[in-house]
Amino acid sequence: MDKLPRPVRILLGVSGGIAAYKSPDLVRRLRERGAEVQVVMTAGAARFITALTLQAVSGQPVRDALWDEAAEAAMGHIELARWADAVLVAPATADFLARLAHGHADDLLSTLCLATSAPLFVAPAMNHQMWANPATASNMALLKDRGVTILGPGEGDQACGETGPGRMLEPDQLAELTLSRLSAERVLSGQRVVVSAGPTREHLDPVRFISNRSSGKMGYAVAQAARDAGATVILVSGPVGIDPPAGVEFVAVESAQQMYDAVHRALVAADIYIGAAAVADYQAPAVAAQKIKKSAEKMQLELVGAPDILVSVAALTSGRPFVVGFAAETENVEENARAKLTRKRVDMIAANRVGDGLAFDCDDNSLLVLWAGGREEIASCGKPELARRLVALIAKVRGSRRRTGAVAAVHG
Ligand code: C5P
Repeated sequence: MDKLPRPVRILLGVSGGIAAYKSPDLVRRLRERGAEVQVVMTAGAARFITALTLQAVSGQPVRDALWDEAAEAAMGHIELARWADAVLVAPATADFLARLAHGHADDLLSTLCLATSAPLFVAPAMNHQMWANPATASNMALLKDRGVTILGPGEGDQACGETGPGRMLEPDQLAELTLSRLSAERVLSGQRVVVSAGPTREHLDPVRFISNRSSGKMGYAVAQAARDAGATVILVSGPVGIDPPAGVEFVAVESAQQMYDAVHRALVAADIYIGAAAVADYQAPAVAAQKIKKSAEKMQLELVGAPDILVSVAALTSGRPFVVGFAAETENVEENARAKLTRKRVDMIAANRVGDGLAFDCDDNSLLVLWAGGREEIASCGKPELARRLVALIAKVRGSRRRTGAVAAVHG
């Protein structure tokens, strides 16, 4: 784990499976590795293990009810969701995983899983037939796609007397996997990252503007992934219909010029700039003060070039960050993106194919990431997972550049 100024905080969720008898040991294994552990158990878990046991080993009162007035007064459930650096549900029963996959919030643990922005780990534990059931398999695929880390299950003798996959991994293994994964994920610890996202609006007059279909989902997912990787993040965004991730500094803008100004202000002492916004290429030379009247059958709109934010950041001569651009292409993706990498003198380009319902305003996407001397494809998955992999790749390529002492502007 990167040196946090305090111990890493694990919210351990215990759901109602026989493997819950191993939960006290898991608490101890996490604590002996320096973690602070707060246990939340479901009603089902309470049939297998007592809150008192878990309280004794965690050193914290165990939470089990959403409607507990005294506990809510001490630390409300949203506060608890924010407190955690990671949520680990072990054992995670088939029923709990189904409820998690479908966004239920009918008890404290499922509500916390929905309310937290911390990375989520689950350790499935169930009979092997239940694990093999297509319903469970599709719930697992859904969770994986949303960026949930699935630990196990292991294979072997089961409490029901049968043999097969479905055993919860051993506590020691779970503690090690969770904490090392957390540390591997904090690849941008201490870094300052500026992300631009969403569309811009280029006003023509007080009621009309030109814009595009960008939903902001990709850029917001990138900002969240950078935050989860330990970075301090400033998100500069055009108008979108989604909420900014918690824990990032948010700057709302409308036009390309406003985004340009906000990005350059945010860039002071930044280490990385990720331009995920769909910035307008053209803008009106001046915004008409009054609504433009309909006066003829035809009208011609005169537009002038908007500032290219990405190019301007890549051209900075002092305090230049590592610069990552996006390229939305309808054809010859690799060729066009490679040309953009060189022409815009950026360090990395994340390219995707758009059109025919691809990429824009949808939840899944795939990326072809290019940099001088390298390429990597990230196969289609949910945008949070895609963003997590992109952020890991940015950290890796930037790290190797710094180690080899290559200068940022390696092109041309
Ligand atoms: O040239 P193209 O618009 O395809 O390049 C896309 C990349 O350039 C994206 O990273 C986008 O954020 C950035 N861009 C910009 N300013 C513009 C146009 C594009 O920063 N005016």
